[in-house]
Amino acid sequence: MMVVHMAVASESSPNLARQRTVARLAERITSEEERISAQIEFRGVTKRYGAIAAVKDFSLTVRRGEFLTILGPSGSGKTTALMLLAGFISPSEGDIFIVGNSVSAVPSYRRDQGIVFQNYALFPHLTVRRNLEFPLEMRGVKAPERSKRVDRMLERVHLKDYRERMPSQLSGGQQQRVALARALIADPPILLLDEPLGALDRNLREQMQGEIKSLHKEFGKTTICVTHDQEEALTLSDRIVVMRDGRIEQIDTPEALYDRPVSRFVANFLGEANILDDAGLTVESDGVPPTGTVAMIRPERISITDSATPKRTDAHQRQSVAGTVVEMIYGGPVRKYHVRIGKGVLILREHVSSGQQVFKPGDEVQLGWLKSDLRFVTP
Ligand SMILES: Nc1ncnc2c1ncn2[C@@H]1O[C@H](COP(=O)(O)OP(=O)(O)O)[C@@H](O)[C@H]1O
Ligand SMILES: [Mg+2]
Repeated sequence: MMVVHMAVASESSPNLARQRTVARLAERITSEEERISAQIEFRGVTKRYGAIAAVKDFSLTVRRGEFLTILGPSGSGKTTALMLLAGFISPSEGDIFIVGNSVSAVPSYRRDQGIVFQNYALFPHLTVRRNLEFPLEMRGVKAPERSKRVDRMLERVHLKDYRERMPSQLSGGQQQRVALARALIADPPILLLDEPLGALDRNLREQMQGEIKSLHKEFGKTTICVTHDQEEALTLSDRIVVMRDGRIEQIDTPEALYDRPVSRFVANFLGEANILDDAGLTVESDGVPPTGTVAMIRPERISITDSATPKRTDAHQRQSVAGTVVEMIYGGPVRKYHVRIGKGVLILREHVSSGQQVFKPGDEVQLGWLKSDLRFVTP
């Protein structure tokens, strides 16, 4: 039996048709088997604050050991979804299950989840060692065993020599490593991370991404990570849930989300996207495009050539259009062009290689792409 995880419209909304198309394109379908083997399941969860629904009809299954990222702009309901799972707030409707059991009656401290929230910082008045001992104390682990486990964990996160420091004597990155260590030390099956790297600068963030990835590989915790950073989501995740205004817009692997976004929103949120309809182009496609969609193509799928270049041998598989270069942006290994076509501007990106022709603003050029590289998304 198949269960369709699609919001059955309970309110009349102008967005309804769009949501239906999105759900159809996303094929948000979960087999019964997948549902049973799920470690975490949100089933039709809504959280209201007065008239506002921070999370709407949220349905999701997370597999054991999976690294799942909830990605979306600020205010889209990511933190609310995580707080519901952590038990800090309760759903207005729907329910959450862990290994098949409803957790609605289970208080947050008994949910056995390791948590790293931005606002769930280290205890400032306790040393690193005492911070790490705390979750073990809560679980009744005896002192000698606690000490052993703290040492082992500090070694693992390369902070052995910081055992007796106070959090204020650590850098931001070190504090986050202690927070991760504290979340993992009691060996909970589930790890919840809310913008864990949000406060760090770019270099440190990349380094910590590597750290989180290797901790996930080593400890195999089912991890739900919340972020608004697309790069972080693409780098870390087995699957990504894209949220928009409290609803799930699409769930898929990083590759599939990037390659087959269902909506303009997802296409733009994960990278750059050209909507050909915006440029007023008559799109040549292989089949009939699904109704209610527009044609999208990624910048790296467009080729740029001199307008005098003869037609390619695979011309029937391609669409070619004439345009004028507006801007060339040099970006190290890649070169980006803005090219005026019809009433729009297309962005394209090519890897820099030797012998390549470089165009400058004002040049008349020919753009081309494979019809099979077009994607059809909701507008
Ligand atoms: N305690 C609350 N009371 C009222 N509104 C809230 C509360 N918490 C969150 N919201 C609202 O719910 C929406 C989603 O918030 P949140 O889950 O924090 O988003 P995100 O983490 O994606 O930035 C926002 O519009 C926010 O203002
Ligand atoms: Mg948030």
